[in-house]
Amino acid sequence: MAVPFISEVKRTHTCGQLTATNVGEEVVLFGWVHNRRDHGGAVFIDLRDRDGLTQVVFEPDHAEAHGLAGSLRLEFCIGVRGKVVSRGKNVNPKMKTGEIEIKATDLTIFNRSEPTPFPIEDSIDTSEEKRLAHRYLDLRRAPLQKSLMTRSKMHSLTRAYMVDHGFLDLETPFMGKYTPGGARNFLVPSRMNAGKFYALAESPQLYKQLFMVAGFDRYFQIVKCFRDEDLRVDRQPEFTQIDVEMSFVSQDDIFTIIEGLIKKLWGEVLGIDVPTPFARMDFYESMAKYGNDKPDLRFGLEHTVLTDLIREHGDAGGVPMMFEAVQNKGIVKAMVVPAEKAMSRAESDKLEEFAKQAGAKGLARAKVAEGGEWTQSPLSKTITPALRAAINQAVGAKTGDLILFQFGKESLVHTVMANLRVHVAKKLGLIPEYGSGGQWKFLWVVNPPLFEHDEDSNTWVAAHHAFTRPHDEDVPFLLSDPGRVKCHRYDVVLNGFEIGGGSIRLHDPKVQAEVFKALGIGEEEAQTKFGFLLDALKFGAPPHGGIALGMDRLAFLLTGAESLRDVIPFPKTKTGTDLMTGAPGDVDDKQLRELHVRPVPPPQK
Ligand code: AMO
Repeated sequence: MAVPFISEVKRTHTCGQLTATNVGEEVVLFGWVHNRRDHGGAVFIDLRDRDGLTQVVFEPDHAEAHGLAGSLRLEFCIGVRGKVVSRGKNVNPKMKTGEIEIKATDLTIFNRSEPTPFPIEDSIDTSEEKRLAHRYLDLRRAPLQKSLMTRSKMHSLTRAYMVDHGFLDLETPFMGKYTPGGARNFLVPSRMNAGKFYALAESPQLYKQLFMVAGFDRYFQIVKCFRDEDLRVDRQPEFTQIDVEMSFVSQDDIFTIIEGLIKKLWGEVLGIDVPTPFARMDFYESMAKYGNDKPDLRFGLEHTVLTDLIREHGDAGGVPMMFEAVQNKGIVKAMVVPAEKAMSRAESDKLEEFAKQAGAKGLARAKVAEGGEWTQSPLSKTITPALRAAINQAVGAKTGDLILFQFGKESLVHTVMANLRVHVAKKLGLIPEYGSGGQWKFLWVVNPPLFEHDEDSNTWVAAHHAFTRPHDEDVPFLLSDPGRVKCHRYDVVLNGFEIGGGSIRLHDPKVQAEVFKALGIGEEEAQTKFGFLLDALKFGAPPHGGIALGMDRLAFLLTGAESLRDVIPFPKTKTGTDLMTGAPGDVDDKQLRELHVRPVPPPQK
């Protein structure tokens, strides 16, 4: 008689729980057949659930269960009842439950499984496409189960911490009004309002400010955000933020809350004590030394800006290309690969290929010989000894060092050099390809400019958003010299990734009007675009500020995953598709008509 599992036989333990202390107990386990061995008379399986593996043995003395066990195959979903026995001399120290096994008396097969398209094992060499197409099977694998369980813990720790610190968990709409600026939005056509569209929220930014106007004082939300951006290793089109806004606070108050949260996450999940407060660095210092505002501080290889030096030496320096770049408002930067990390000629040639892929025209370089001479470099033929000595001194070069140079348009030079710095660090083994290597370099990057100059349109655009508070001492320059205005915006960075960003908001309508003017946004335009926020700010809005942390990025860095996709249950590919469901998919003409949308045929390839 088959035993009526589920209704009458209840699970007593998980597959990762039993130890020698349970020997002699009768237990019931449910799970999946992870592997199976037929040893003459006895059938052995490892039974798996999210908690681990337990060895189960079916012997002929329980004929019914033993008979049925003969038909078990990998990934069958089953229930087992039996007695916990010691493995005696056959203890498996690698398994959490390796001291014991279950001698089965009853077996039920809840469901059979077809052979899976790839093995459910820790490390497999199946392509990611195939894994994503069967994500529910991929998610059965222990490393992914572990990552997502860690992520679940991060969510509950975050909620507990925020609530403990007086924050209210409040929801905001996903479907809102399109407002310009920031990332590109996904648009949703309205059936009931012909020709109108909702925008999917790229973040709850405006709503959380309205919560402050409404007097909620401290808000947080673990919230999905949607951005139609080109995807990279650390970007998904829908991702999750720990979104925070606070009233009556300074920048330091926000930093303290966030540092405390990160300390708690790292402490409780990894058992690591993250020292606080985190280091702080000025935006401009970060750009000069590292080429971007999210520096990886686990290694040196700092850049040196040579622009002034090249300008001083002018035509007489003997490197006309660099001088020309400076005359055209460009910059010159260098970076030293130290002699003790010697690179072969072939390796340094490969660096040039890398720089070109990052957008550079080339990669000028020079090897420093005895007496400061340069070799292996076309620059060595023309440069004057005076400029060469000055550069050697500026970059701190010694015999055997390799100096790498970039010159030209500022943004490109920074980007190429920033990429090169990380690339060289990986090549030299200063940081691992993935993961932290046990080093957690948290950093606040502070005091960036309020505006960025858009070269294409020759106008000033908001570097973050138009509601960021400028430094008080820079307010007089909002219109006369927008480029010099710094603001209360901050990013928190970990090992080369931006894990969060925010700002103190502009709650003074007068200064707000000047910012709009500097951005070329007239009163009427401002009202159409952001009217509801501007109106709200007129009704006694409190001073406020906030931040959003990227939860996916935090989980990705904390678990040392290779990609953001590994910490998201059902992620999208690089081209924004879901290989399992086939999204985005076709819809029929009737649906489109209801939505008042007429399709345009895709461009011919
Ligand atoms: P920001 O745009 O800097 O700020 O976003 C905050 C953090 O969200 C993460 N993030 C992403 N993660 C995965 N995929 C993406 N496509 C993606 N885009 C951003 C990053 C980033 O630091 N409303 C403001 C916050 C504020 O001012 O309070 C905002 O959204 O880790």
